[in-house]
Amino acid sequence: MLSIPVKILRTFLLLSFVFLFSKSFAQSPRSRADFDMGWRFHLGDVQGAEAPSLKDAEWRVLNLPHDWSIEGKFDKNSPATVEGGALTGGIGWYRKTFTVPASSKGKKVYIDFDGVYWKSTVWVNGHQLGFRPNGYISFEYDMTPYLNFGGKNVIAVKVDNSVQPNSRWYSGSGIYRNVWIVTTNKVAIDHWGTSLTTTNISDNSATVDLSISIKNGLEKDKKASDDFGVVPIKLQTTIYDASNKAIATITSDGTTNHAGEIKLFAQKLLVASPHLWSVNDPYLYRAVTRIFCLTHKLEDEYTTPFGIRYFNFDADKGFSLNGKPMKILGVCDHHDLGSLGAAVNYRALQRQLEMLKEMGCNGIRTSHNPPAPELLDLADKMGFLVMDEAFDCWQVGKVKYDYHLFFDEWHKRDLEDQVLRDRNHPSVIIWSIGNEIPQQGDTSALRVAPELAAIVRSLDMTRPITTANDRPDTSNKIIKSGALDLIGYNYHEFDYAAFHSRYPGKKFIATETTSGLETRGHYDMPSDSIRVWPSRWDRPFTDGNPDNTVSAYDNVRPAWGSTHEATWKVMKKYDFLSGLFIWTGWDYMGEPTPYKWPSRSSYFGIIDMAGFPKDIYYMYQSEWTDKTVLHILPHWNWEPGKTIDVWAFYNHADEVELFVNGKSMGVKKKEGDDLHVMWRLKYEPGTLKAVSRKDGKIVKTEVIHTAGKPAKLLLIADRKNIKADGKDLSFVTVKILDKDGNVVPTADNLVNFKLNGAGSLRATDNGCETDHDSFQTKDRHAFNGLALAILQSNGTAGSITLTASSKGLQGATVAVSSK
Ligand code: GAL
Repeated sequence: MLSIPVKILRTFLLLSFVFLFSKSFAQSPRSRADFDMGWRFHLGDVQGAEAPSLKDAEWRVLNLPHDWSIEGKFDKNSPATVEGGALTGGIGWYRKTFTVPASSKGKKVYIDFDGVYWKSTVWVNGHQLGFRPNGYISFEYDMTPYLNFGGKNVIAVKVDNSVQPNSRWYSGSGIYRNVWIVTTNKVAIDHWGTSLTTTNISDNSATVDLSISIKNGLEKDKKASDDFGVVPIKLQTTIYDASNKAIATITSDGTTNHAGEIKLFAQKLLVASPHLWSVNDPYLYRAVTRIFCLTHKLEDEYTTPFGIRYFNFDADKGFSLNGKPMKILGVCDHHDLGSLGAAVNYRALQRQLEMLKEMGCNGIRTSHNPPAPELLDLADKMGFLVMDEAFDCWQVGKVKYDYHLFFDEWHKRDLEDQVLRDRNHPSVIIWSIGNEIPQQGDTSALRVAPELAAIVRSLDMTRPITTANDRPDTSNKIIKSGALDLIGYNYHEFDYAAFHSRYPGKKFIATETTSGLETRGHYDMPSDSIRVWPSRWDRPFTDGNPDNTVSAYDNVRPAWGSTHEATWKVMKKYDFLSGLFIWTGWDYMGEPTPYKWPSRSSYFGIIDMAGFPKDIYYMYQSEWTDKTVLHILPHWNWEPGKTIDVWAFYNHADEVELFVNGKSMGVKKKEGDDLHVMWRLKYEPGTLKAVSRKDGKIVKTEVIHTAGKPAKLLLIADRKNIKADGKDLSFVTVKILDKDGNVVPTADNLVNFKLNGAGSLRATDNGCETDHDSFQTKDRHAFNGLALAILQSNGTAGSITLTASSKGLQGATVAVSSK
């Protein structure tokens, strides 16, 4: 059909369009199918495993996303080191046999990988499709020429994470993000083929500029005339609001480029009375672009979700969104999902963001790599501002085998792909082209930084570019190169005030701050003396606690960092400080500063790895949200007579009064820039009660009782109804209670889990940085009174029952329904 002479086609088209556009649209000829289920996996190299004939019946069957490292044993001698999580890398092979329907003949069939860590090579039916070293980049291969339509096909993926260390944090290993099969007609919108920007935004209207890359996927014929394969098309874009109402449409005529080529089309639409996207009201529109070739024939349909918003970084006034000044209250996070490892899971990501949102956080830095696409989808939907980061190093590496080995050959392709993939997300507001780049002090940065910035600007002119600098002085060659729109400081909090004199007229962002250290539920006194652990980054650390705990009073930081409170006090003070990204929102695998083995995960999180907030969470909540907060710490189980510091974070009140067993310990008020109040008192068991008051009226009361011996378990599922899709999760908190229902804050009882019904026990955890039990274990010690069990749907509807038992304690059961 597509070889009909162009003239005839044109006439045909003219006659038929009136009819065509009055009809309702046919189903999209583009499909994007989840390709995660039913892969075979083998850990270890296998010669010739790309051959379709290889017998893989003995290989393990699993569903993606998959991270084989997280299934392994913690090992002091792991080549990844404790910085990398002390787990194992190696080489892994994945294979999948699949059929492509005969009806797909004449179409294009692609395979899309959202991310494979790392050095992946992909073959289909024995043909090598490509190699991709970067473990965080998304990529697509065209499988069309090699497929058996109507027959069997074999895809094989080799993942090589054997040469280590190649990361400063836990990377995970394998096809740890989603995989998709995309089928389109030959004339279709290219991969990541739209660029959508919004301008001239007012109460009355907004202009939507859309640039669309249309690929003419007809096969090239060298002997044919120059305009061989040029196809006349009608291009129609319709904008739908969040209620699915079509609110603007544009149709334009044109022709594709020659066979095998891509052509850019531009369309402009107006949205009347635009509903703006913001962090509190993340309103999304959709632009649906349809290509029509012949009469009645919808060739492609492609959806670009978008938000209408404008923002500005001002050298004096800081950040504003839609004309309203605000600070970016962000956190840095790595990509792992705690006990799930790097294997991406929508619900697990959503839970991480929900808890951050509850704390008042409105920003995420994807440190130090492109995130899973789902993270940006969620950020769009939930209202987070994202600093989308590309690299942790350029040509000079930080560990022996990291990306510096691939930078020269791959940086252009990787950075382009990141910008192409992410540029339509309203949540993305900053591109970071690097974190603490070792070349900051090297003249090579004068060349590389502008080159990287030019790559970004060639694809997106709407967002500022920064780097996260740990040397933010004026000798920094990246800053000197003039490539940056925003000067990013990592740490150096006490130099912020001098920023204007150092960089007159420049715009500021605190790309990384704090690095406060805490173990949930552990308290070292006196709480007001700050431990600097380690006291120098380049010296071995010999202080610390014998059990590798760190106090949760916000009184521990490394030499380069500052406490949460000290950092926030500075950030609050100056309007020009447009925002901050705290290191980190969540604890993550690897980098257990200040310790080494037996620690294997970080202490930096405001929330521990299992998802239990540390106390400092409530300081942020009291400052960053409108919720009424009164949080007291520590727990109330100590040696009688011991001197204890009691802290309270509070807001919406003038004062807090503390009572021990009914006796007042005095009224305290925050003075000056205080962020908490403190009482120092002698411990006596019983009841600790805090009462916050405003104008003499009680605002909130908090009570902690001294807990008795562990007596029973309590299970609390975060969601009792989950989707029966084989992916959805329910996170079940386990509490060790005394007979009266108080959490026993020091309990470490071993809890055994049994699961029945339509699901599986995906992982268990407790937030302890030194726990070496595998995350797959069904027996998990509680840590400071808490543990976590993660249930996953097995793809069929039904009830899932989790039973927890522990020697000498009354057990508990929770039922989750999977529909
Ligand atoms: C920063 C670095 C982060 C993390 C952090 C720990 O310098 O950018 O990746 O290592 O230190 O404090």
